[in-house]
Order: sequence, then structure tokens, then C-alpha cells
Amino acid sequence: MGSFATGVTVVTTKDSAGKPVGMTANSFSSLSLDPPLVLWSIAKSASLYTEFTAAESFAIHILAKGQQHLSNQFSRKGIERFDGISYETNNRGVPLLNDCLARFDCELFSQADGGDHTIIVGYVAAMEELQLDPLIFHKGAYRTLEP
Ligand SMILES: Cc1cc2nc3c(=O)[nH]c(=O)nc-3n(C[C@H](O)[C@H](O)[C@H](O)COP(=O)(O)O)c2cc1C
Repeated sequence: MGSFATGVTVVTTKDSAGKPVGMTANSFSSLSLDPPLVLWSIAKSASLYTEFTAAESFAIHILAKGQQHLSNQFSRKGIERFDGISYETNNRGVPLLNDCLARFDCELFSQADGGDHTIIVGYVAAMEELQLDPLIFHKGAYRTLEP
């Protein structure tokens, strides 16, 4: 699967205590235009599995070229991933990262079993896009697009 080049996203939500949580995910995909749906999948072993499968709202941020540090920070085990990160909060309490290539504000649409992962489908309630180049992930390494 590493030979399939993807973008990189950071998915964020709040936990039951209202604390911001987030994780790096490259399983993101578009799913439906009408209604507007996107999906990503979370490992059942992930430390934030309970938080994300319980979340009614979440945000998916597509990282831009130069944002590897966000991908690294939001995939690191055992740290407070929001330490040193500037963010805003939407009206559902979901933390929003700044300066990403695109952002989808999602409401939970459905979940499906996917073996050792759970597929999370989000209804896109709002989105924003900046004209930036994407960060690419391929064979375990970060890449950028060449013309
Ligand atoms: C580029 C990249 C993509 C990732 N994509 C996913 C993903 O789609 N789903 C997932 O569950 N974990 C994914 N991970 C792993 C998580 O971000 C995180 O590193 C992992 O859950 C380990 O942290 P934890 O033990 O705190 O859960 C990805 C990590 C990286 C670096």
C-alpha cells in the first residue's frame, strides 16, 4: 500500500472532557458529492480510537507542503499533540488548525467495520481551501509535487 501516493491529513476533535485531540491520517478519501461525504479509517489500536469513534463532529485538515512537522507531531505516541500548536475552535468545540491546504468541517454520517480499522464517514458541513501545494506521502517518506 505504501506505493500508493497520498496526501496527508490531520483529523481533530474534542474528547468527552472538551480537550482537543488529533491524529495524522492518510486513509482519507472523497466518497460522495451528493450528499458531500468524505471518509477516513482509524486503527482499532489507536490511542484515540474511543475519542474519534464517539465524536459527533470532527475536522479533517489536508496538509500543505512544508507541514511535515504537523504530520510528525500528530502521529507521535505519548505526547500532548496540541502542545505548541496554534488553533481556533469552531462552534461545535472542534479544534481547527491554521494555514492548511484545505479543511473539512464534518458531522458523523456513519461508521463501518473495516477489519482492524473502523471506517468513519463524515458529512461535510463546511470547507475551506487555500491555494497551496500539497504534502505527499509515499513509501514511508514525505514528498512534494514536481511540475
Ligand atoms: C503519514 C501517516 C499517516 C497515518 N495514517 C493513519 C490512518 O489513516 N489511520 C490510523 O489509524 N493511523 C494512521 N497513522 C498513525 C497515527 O497517526 C498514529 O501515529 C498512531 O495512531 C500511533 O499513535 P497512538 O499509539 O497514540 O495511537 C498515520 C501516521 C502517519 C505518519
